[in-house]
Amino acid sequence: MRQRQQMVQLEQRRPEPPQRPVLQVVKASTVAAAPARVTIRRAQLTDVEQMYRLLDGYARQGLLLPRRIQDVYRNVREFVVAVDENDAVVGCGGLRVYTPVLAEVVALAVDERCHGKGVGRQIIDTLLADARSFDLVRVFAMTLQPVFFEKMGFATTNVALFPEKIAIDCSGCAKRATCQEITMVLDL
Ligand SMILES: CC(C)(COP(=O)(O)OP(=O)(O)OC[C@H]1O[C@@H](n2cnc3c(N)ncnc32)[C@H](O)[C@@H]1OP(=O)(O)O)[C@@H](O)C(=O)NCCC(=O)NCCS
Repeated sequence: MRQRQQMVQLEQRRPEPPQRPVLQVVKASTVAAAPARVTIRRAQLTDVEQMYRLLDGYARQGLLLPRRIQDVYRNVREFVVAVDENDAVVGCGGLRVYTPVLAEVVALAVDERCHGKGVGRQIIDTLLADARSFDLVRVFAMTLQPVFFEKMGFATTNVALFPEKIAIDCSGCAKRATCQEITMVLDL
Protein backbone atom coordinates (compact mmCIF):
# COMPACT_ATOMS: atom_id res chain seq x y z
CA MET A 1 0.00 0.00 0.00
CA ARG A 2 2.82 2.34 1.05
CA GLN A 3 4.72 1.41 -2.11
CA ARG A 4 1.66 2.28 -4.24
CA GLN A 5 1.29 5.67 -2.47
CA GLN A 6 4.96 6.40 -3.21
CA MET A 7 4.44 5.51 -6.87
CA VAL A 8 1.41 7.79 -7.09
CA GLN A 9 3.42 10.61 -5.50
CA LEU A 10 6.28 10.05 -7.94
CA GLU A 11 3.81 10.02 -10.83
CA GLN A 12 2.37 13.35 -9.64
CA ARG A 13 5.82 14.89 -9.34
CA ARG A 14 6.92 13.82 -12.83
CA PRO A 15 7.36 17.04 -14.85
CA GLU A 16 5.24 17.68 -17.93
CA PRO A 17 7.13 16.78 -21.12
CA PRO A 18 8.45 19.93 -22.83
CA GLN A 19 6.05 21.29 -25.43
CA ARG A 20 7.77 21.30 -28.82
CA PRO A 21 7.05 24.43 -30.81
CA VAL A 22 4.61 23.64 -33.56
CA LEU A 23 6.42 23.94 -36.86
CA GLN A 24 3.63 24.91 -39.17
CA VAL A 25 4.40 24.50 -42.84
CA VAL A 26 2.94 27.40 -44.80
CA LYS A 27 2.81 26.72 -48.53
CA ALA A 28 4.29 29.65 -50.43
CA SER A 29 1.40 29.65 -52.88
CA THR A 30 -1.12 30.22 -50.08
CA VAL A 31 0.61 33.24 -48.55
CA ALA A 32 0.68 36.87 -49.61
CA ALA A 33 2.51 38.21 -52.65
CA ALA A 34 6.25 38.90 -52.68
CA PRO A 35 7.39 41.54 -50.18
CA ALA A 36 8.05 45.03 -51.48
CA ARG A 37 11.36 45.34 -49.67
CA VAL A 38 13.92 42.73 -48.67
CA THR A 39 16.86 43.37 -46.35
CA ILE A 40 19.89 41.14 -45.81
CA ARG A 41 21.19 40.93 -42.26
CA ARG A 42 23.04 38.53 -39.97
CA ALA A 43 20.92 35.64 -38.74
CA GLN A 44 19.75 35.71 -35.14
CA LEU A 45 18.61 32.87 -32.90
CA THR A 46 15.02 34.05 -33.28
CA ASP A 47 15.26 33.44 -37.06
CA VAL A 48 16.24 29.79 -36.75
CA GLU A 49 12.77 28.23 -36.78
CA GLN A 50 11.86 30.14 -39.94
CA MET A 51 15.20 29.27 -41.55
CA TYR A 52 14.66 25.63 -40.66
CA ARG A 53 11.16 25.60 -42.21
CA LEU A 54 12.49 27.15 -45.41
CA LEU A 55 15.43 24.73 -45.66
CA ASP A 56 13.34 21.72 -44.70
CA GLY A 57 10.76 22.51 -47.40
CA TYR A 58 13.46 22.37 -50.08
CA ALA A 59 15.12 19.33 -48.47
CA ARG A 60 11.79 17.47 -48.78
CA GLN A 61 11.82 18.30 -52.50
CA GLY A 62 15.37 16.90 -52.76
CA LEU A 63 16.83 20.33 -53.62
CA LEU A 64 18.88 20.68 -50.43
CA LEU A 65 20.44 18.14 -48.11
CA PRO A 66 18.28 17.52 -45.05
CA ARG A 67 19.51 19.11 -41.84
CA ARG A 68 18.18 19.15 -38.29
CA ILE A 69 17.03 22.28 -36.52
CA GLN A 70 19.84 21.67 -33.99
CA ASP A 71 22.34 21.95 -36.84
CA VAL A 72 20.87 25.31 -37.86
CA TYR A 73 21.17 26.56 -34.26
CA ARG A 74 24.74 25.24 -34.01
CA ASN A 75 25.79 26.98 -37.21
CA VAL A 76 23.65 30.11 -36.94
CA ARG A 77 26.70 32.40 -36.84
CA GLU A 78 27.56 31.32 -40.41
CA PHE A 79 24.28 32.60 -41.77
CA VAL A 80 22.76 35.72 -43.23
CA VAL A 81 19.03 36.01 -43.75
CA ALA A 82 16.86 37.97 -46.16
CA VAL A 83 13.90 39.48 -44.32
CA ASP A 84 10.76 41.28 -45.45
CA GLU A 85 9.24 44.51 -44.09
CA ASN A 86 7.98 42.60 -41.03
CA ASP A 87 11.38 41.03 -40.37
CA ALA A 88 10.07 37.63 -41.50
CA VAL A 89 12.70 35.38 -43.09
CA VAL A 90 12.33 34.99 -46.88
CA GLY A 91 15.80 33.66 -47.59
CA CYS A 92 19.02 32.45 -46.02
CA GLY A 93 22.51 31.28 -46.83
CA GLY A 94 25.69 30.48 -44.95
CA LEU A 95 29.44 30.74 -45.43
CA ARG A 96 31.30 27.77 -43.94
CA VAL A 97 35.03 28.29 -43.51
CA TYR A 98 37.29 25.25 -43.94
CA THR A 99 40.81 26.68 -44.06
CA PRO A 100 42.39 30.17 -44.01
CA VAL A 101 41.74 30.33 -47.76
CA LEU A 102 38.67 28.19 -48.44
CA ALA A 103 34.95 28.46 -47.63
CA GLU A 104 31.70 26.98 -48.91
CA VAL A 105 28.31 28.56 -49.57
CA VAL A 106 25.85 26.36 -47.67
CA ALA A 107 22.09 26.14 -47.18
CA LEU A 108 21.13 28.78 -49.71
CA ALA A 109 17.36 29.10 -50.00
CA VAL A 110 14.86 31.75 -51.05
CA ASP A 111 11.12 31.57 -50.40
CA GLU A 112 9.29 30.61 -53.60
CA ARG A 113 7.25 33.81 -53.66
CA CYS A 114 10.51 35.79 -53.92
CA HIS A 115 12.20 33.76 -56.65
CA GLY A 116 13.62 35.66 -59.59
CA LYS A 117 13.73 39.00 -57.74
CA GLY A 118 17.42 39.12 -56.98
CA VAL A 119 17.20 37.89 -53.37
CA GLY A 120 19.48 34.90 -54.01
CA ARG A 121 21.99 37.22 -55.66
CA GLN A 122 21.91 39.62 -52.68
CA ILE A 123 22.54 36.74 -50.27
CA ILE A 124 25.49 35.49 -52.37
CA ASP A 125 26.92 39.03 -52.69
CA THR A 126 26.78 39.42 -48.90
CA LEU A 127 28.45 36.04 -48.30
CA LEU A 128 31.17 36.83 -50.84
CA ALA A 129 31.77 40.22 -49.21
CA ASP A 130 32.14 38.35 -45.92
CA ALA A 131 34.59 35.94 -47.54
CA ARG A 132 36.66 38.85 -48.89
CA SER A 133 36.67 40.54 -45.49
CA PHE A 134 38.22 37.35 -44.05
CA ASP A 135 40.85 37.38 -46.83
CA LEU A 136 39.58 34.04 -48.09
CA VAL A 137 40.76 33.14 -51.58
CA ARG A 138 38.27 30.57 -52.83
CA VAL A 139 34.58 29.87 -52.30
CA PHE A 140 32.83 26.75 -53.55
CA ALA A 141 29.30 25.41 -53.54
CA MET A 142 27.72 22.03 -54.17
CA THR A 143 24.43 22.53 -55.90
CA LEU A 144 21.65 21.29 -58.15
CA GLN A 145 21.31 24.86 -59.51
CA PRO A 146 24.56 25.31 -61.48
CA VAL A 147 23.11 27.98 -63.80
CA PHE A 148 22.26 30.21 -60.83
CA PHE A 149 25.83 29.86 -59.53
CA GLU A 150 27.26 30.50 -63.01
CA LYS A 151 25.35 33.78 -63.01
CA MET A 152 27.03 34.57 -59.68
CA GLY A 153 30.45 34.09 -61.36
CA PHE A 154 31.13 30.50 -60.25
CA ALA A 155 32.54 27.86 -62.63
CA THR A 156 32.03 24.11 -62.63
CA THR A 157 34.81 22.10 -61.03
CA ASN A 158 35.48 18.71 -59.43
CA VAL A 159 34.68 17.95 -55.79
CA ALA A 160 37.98 16.05 -55.59
CA LEU A 161 39.63 19.48 -55.37
CA PHE A 162 38.04 19.87 -51.92
CA PRO A 163 39.22 17.00 -49.72
CA GLU A 164 38.20 19.10 -46.70
CA LYS A 165 34.56 18.88 -47.82
CA ILE A 166 34.78 15.18 -48.67
CA ALA A 167 36.28 14.35 -45.27
CA ILE A 168 33.71 16.31 -43.26
CA ASP A 169 30.46 15.88 -45.19
CA CYS A 170 30.63 13.65 -48.28
CA SER A 171 32.28 10.58 -46.76
CA GLY A 172 29.45 10.12 -44.24
CA CYS A 173 26.62 11.19 -46.55
CA ALA A 174 23.89 8.62 -47.25
CA LYS A 175 23.50 10.02 -50.79
CA ARG A 176 27.18 9.76 -51.63
CA ALA A 177 26.83 6.95 -54.19
CA THR A 178 24.04 8.71 -56.09
CA CYS A 179 25.03 12.35 -55.48
CA GLN A 180 23.89 14.59 -58.34
CA GLU A 181 25.30 17.81 -56.90
CA ILE A 182 27.59 19.84 -59.11
CA THR A 183 30.63 21.47 -57.55
CA MET A 184 31.06 25.14 -58.42
CA VAL A 185 33.98 27.38 -57.52
CA LEU A 186 34.76 31.09 -57.47
CA ASP A 187 38.22 32.54 -56.97
CA LEU A 188 37.87 35.84 -55.16
C1 LIG B 1 18.53 28.99 -56.31
C2 LIG B 1 17.79 30.11 -55.57
C3 LIG B 1 18.50 30.37 -54.26
C4 LIG B 1 17.83 31.37 -56.45
O1 LIG B 1 17.28 32.44 -55.73
P1 LIG B 1 16.54 33.66 -56.49
O2 LIG B 1 16.32 34.73 -55.48
O3 LIG B 1 15.38 33.16 -57.24
O4 LIG B 1 17.67 34.10 -57.53
P2 LIG B 1 17.87 35.57 -58.16
O5 LIG B 1 16.54 36.17 -58.42
O6 LIG B 1 18.82 36.34 -57.34
O7 LIG B 1 18.52 35.19 -59.54
C5 LIG B 1 19.77 35.68 -59.99
C6 LIG B 1 19.95 35.19 -61.42
O8 LIG B 1 19.96 33.75 -61.44
C7 LIG B 1 18.90 33.26 -62.26
N1 LIG B 1 18.34 32.07 -61.58
C8 LIG B 1 17.77 32.02 -60.39
N2 LIG B 1 17.44 30.76 -60.10
C9 LIG B 1 17.81 30.01 -61.15
C10 LIG B 1 17.74 28.63 -61.45
N3 LIG B 1 17.20 27.75 -60.58
N4 LIG B 1 18.24 28.19 -62.62
C11 LIG B 1 18.78 29.07 -63.51
N5 LIG B 1 18.88 30.41 -63.28
C12 LIG B 1 18.40 30.85 -62.11
C13 LIG B 1 17.89 34.39 -62.33
O9 LIG B 1 17.11 34.29 -63.50
C14 LIG B 1 18.80 35.60 -62.34
O10 LIG B 1 19.35 35.76 -63.62
P3 LIG B 1 19.65 37.22 -64.25
O11 LIG B 1 20.62 37.90 -63.30
O12 LIG B 1 20.21 36.91 -65.57
O13 LIG B 1 18.33 37.92 -64.26
C15 LIG B 1 16.31 29.76 -55.34
O14 LIG B 1 15.73 29.37 -56.56
C16 LIG B 1 16.08 28.64 -54.34
O15 LIG B 1 15.95 28.88 -53.15
N6 LIG B 1 15.99 27.40 -54.83
C17 LIG B 1 15.67 26.25 -53.99
C18 LIG B 1 16.81 25.87 -53.07
C19 LIG B 1 18.09 25.65 -53.85
O16 LIG B 1 18.11 24.94 -54.85
N7 LIG B 1 19.19 26.25 -53.33
C20 LIG B 1 20.49 26.16 -53.93
C21 LIG B 1 21.24 25.15 -53.18
S1 LIG B 1 22.98 25.35 -53.23
